[in-house]
Amino acid sequence: MRRKIIAGNWKMNNDLKETQNLITKLASGLSGEAINCDVIVCPPFTSLSEAYSLIKDTKIKLGAQNMHFESSGAYTGEISAEMLKSVGCEYVILGHSERRSIFGETDQTINKKLKKALDSGLKPIFCVGELLEERESGIMEKVIQRQIIEGLNDISVAEMGKIIIAYEPVWAIGTGKTASPEQAQEVHQFIRNLIKGKYDESVAANVIIQYGGSVKPDNAKDLLSRKDIDGALVGGACLKADSFIGIITAV
Ligand code: PGA
Repeated sequence: MRRKIIAGNWKMNNDLKETQNLITKLASGLSGEAINCDVIVCPPFTSLSEAYSLIKDTKIKLGAQNMHFESSGAYTGEISAEMLKSVGCEYVILGHSERRSIFGETDQTINKKLKKALDSGLKPIFCVGELLEERESGIMEKVIQRQIIEGLNDISVAEMGKIIIAYEPVWAIGTGKTASPEQAQEVHQFIRNLIKGKYDESVAANVIIQYGGSVKPDNAKDLLSRKDIDGALVGGACLKADSFIGIITAV
């Protein structure tokens, strides 16, 4: 039985004071709830250390939104896996569509980052997903297959146990247009089959595949009840404690 994971991707939102407010509200809101899933928050780099000090005695876990694939050196503006670990991160989002489209990350760069995260003991949340024009022109499966196969190049069976996959159709991110539970389930099943083909039945049965793209408290239950949907990667709705808690308690 796969345990569901709800992760909040704060993106470039919340300064230190706003971080303290949001984490404090989340922690107190969740303390009285029976939670049936793992909860992760992914604040911006500048808030990680503060967020960790506020969640370390709670059920909430910490993730970052990106990292570089080298450990240190002349990479102005970058952050390494070791640095993320040193401030309490357990997870890191890699290959988010905004990193791919705005910052030019390729499947090859993302693959290097995945390997580095795994070598450093971070658990990657590896994002894949198609553009609207790719879906409409009938190449969605080809695009997702390429992202999965190239992104996971040289990743072992044992390492697959530490990777979370997030399927995020780009047209559903931040647009208010959610994939229907049927559309999402179909792609999740497709991804699980790809994993079965690349690895084996047991890796496929155990890999966590989150859905992301305009997940909200009122659509979470329907999405999360589908057979192959093992959680959510939440953007906009994780910025308010009430709506993020609403998604968590929908599990
Ligand atoms: P959204 O973002 O929930 O605002 O659509 C999801 C994401 O980008 O991870």
